Amino acid sequence: MTTPSQDAPTTGATTGATLDADDRTLRTSVGDFPLHEYRLRVPGHEWRVLHTGEVLTHADEQRFLSEDRARLPYGVVLWPAAIALAHDVASRGDALRGRQVLELGAGTGLPGIVAASLGAHVVQTDRQSLALAVCRRNVERNGLADRIAHREADWTLWSDTARYDWILGSDILYSEPMHPHLRHVLEASLAPDGRVLLSDPFRKPSLQLLEALEADGWRITLSRWSVGEESSPRAIGVYELTRPA
Ligand SMILES: C[S@@+](CC[C@H](N)C(=O)[O-])C[C@H]1O[C@@H](n2cnc3c(N)ncnc32)[C@H](O)[C@@H]1O
Repeated sequence: MTTPSQDAPTTGATTGATLDADDRTLRTSVGDFPLHEYRLRVPGHEWRVLHTGEVLTHADEQRFLSEDRARLPYGVVLWPAAIALAHDVASRGDALRGRQVLELGAGTGLPGIVAASLGAHVVQTDRQSLALAVCRRNVERNGLADRIAHREADWTLWSDTARYDWILGSDILYSEPMHPHLRHVLEASLAPDGRVLLSDPFRKPSLQLLEALEADGWRITLSRWSVGEESSPRAIGVYELTRPA
């Protein structure tokens, strides 16, 4: 089975991207892509994010990786891990209120958007400017521009010196060469009593990193979520990590 590998660091699509005023099209230097809207509803709340396509089932993922990956970076499509993490964050009520939150590999940004609407101060990061352009628009559309900052940041060149109470990341563990860099980011940017929430569809490389962190003393608990259509649900793990004592 094909699994995501390292995303192309830059594609023609990453420069000069604009969203149409009516939010229907993402215009890039390699073509125009229709935008779709996903709505996440929990009692009392609704969030909406734009994306260029849902990659929810295994079949969607195979199709995306074989057909669309060369033209579109991973961050502009909606992955099921983002939906699971957003639900997980929403289920935590006031736990993130007033807290400093960093989102890594934010893509279209749903988990950070949910965290901000529940009272967190959020910094959303990604190395893809195209993904960040869509993410920013999603933040504006949810009325959260005053609670969320955006930064282009690459895990391999990490320079953020702030410490965060929570670090969020959905489907960011798939590339083994990135693991030392991600470990460094967690160690450098998590507050001493902070927590990390990582969601992942049980990819093999991801489990290897989580096992290595656990062997080094990180405490990890797992919640299981099921995302997508009843006929073809996708199992997603949301892992909560705390630093070694
Ligand atoms: C599979 S996508 C997931 C996007 C989003 N979190 C979601 O779940 O819908 C992986 C994301 O990680 C970002 N990414 C990959 N390598 C990165 C790196 N070295 N530094 C920063 N972001 C990176 C990609 O640009 C992409 O947005």
